[in-house]
Amino acid sequence: MKLSSANINVMVKACRKAAKNIIRDFGEIEKLQVSLKGPGDFVTASDIKAEKILIEELQKARPRFSILSEEIGQITNDKEFKWIIDPIDGTANFLHGIPHFAISLGLEHKKEIICGIIFDPIKDEMFLAEKGNGSYLNNQRLRVSSRSILKDCLIITGGPTFRSKDKDRQLSLNEYYKFSSKVMTPIRKMGSASLDMAYVAAGRCDGFWQRNLNYWDIAAGLVLVKEAGGFVTDFKGNNEYIENKTILVTNSKINEEMIEVLK
Ligand code: 2AM
Ligand code: CA
Repeated sequence: MKLSSANINVMVKACRKAAKNIIRDFGEIEKLQVSLKGPGDFVTASDIKAEKILIEELQKARPRFSILSEEIGQITNDKEFKWIIDPIDGTANFLHGIPHFAISLGLEHKKEIICGIIFDPIKDEMFLAEKGNGSYLNNQRLRVSSRSILKDCLIITGGPTFRSKDKDRQLSLNEYYKFSSKVMTPIRKMGSASLDMAYVAAGRCDGFWQRNLNYWDIAAGLVLVKEAGGFVTDFKGNNEYIENKTILVTNSKINEEMIEVLK
């Protein structure tokens, strides 16, 4: 089975085009690791180039849609439709030559994400979803896992950064401390929030929690997880995950148990 609609087709085409550039640049990274200047500037340039390709393609097909994108910010046009773009999510992995990052692209309609694509160009894994029409990985329908006992679950997070406020760092580490006493398998920290959400949607992981993500990190993942039968809430189980900047993504079984731990 295949997910195909006018908007989805536009998104897939734009992602495939931007991905070509990203794959080529990723191949150059190893050579740059040894240069004096290092690959930092190169990665920033790659990110900006990918964003430019995505925006050009999307604007060609949908000239009136508004845009929110990580590097350029906001382009306001249409009031109802807006593309939400993270050209390379997992930039630190990209920078270090670790093949785990993705293009994340969501389409918002009246404040709700109705289409999402998370494309891992190196593994050639395309996670796609459309509201009402399901979630797919490379044309195979996706479902969240059915694991119901937190102890047996694989839990993932992103954790704080050097930019985090002291209070957030403290809270994040405390959450990590509490979860690590509840699960048998050590918590994973893989470095790309969009892929973390995609992996919960695909049933590879069972739960993901994180503070302080931006809207472009999570937008595409929202519809992907929901259409795969998963739950997205804030840490209290409410819907204010964007406003509160606390996101909890789970299969349909462990949401309450994770909320208990996050209290
Ligand atoms: P990026 O690669 O686009 O910067 C790493 O844990 C993941 O979280 C990445 O997806 C990273 O996106 C994202 N991220 C963005 N801002 C963050 C923040 N302030 N704190 C933690 N992670 C953040
Ligand atoms: Ca990101």
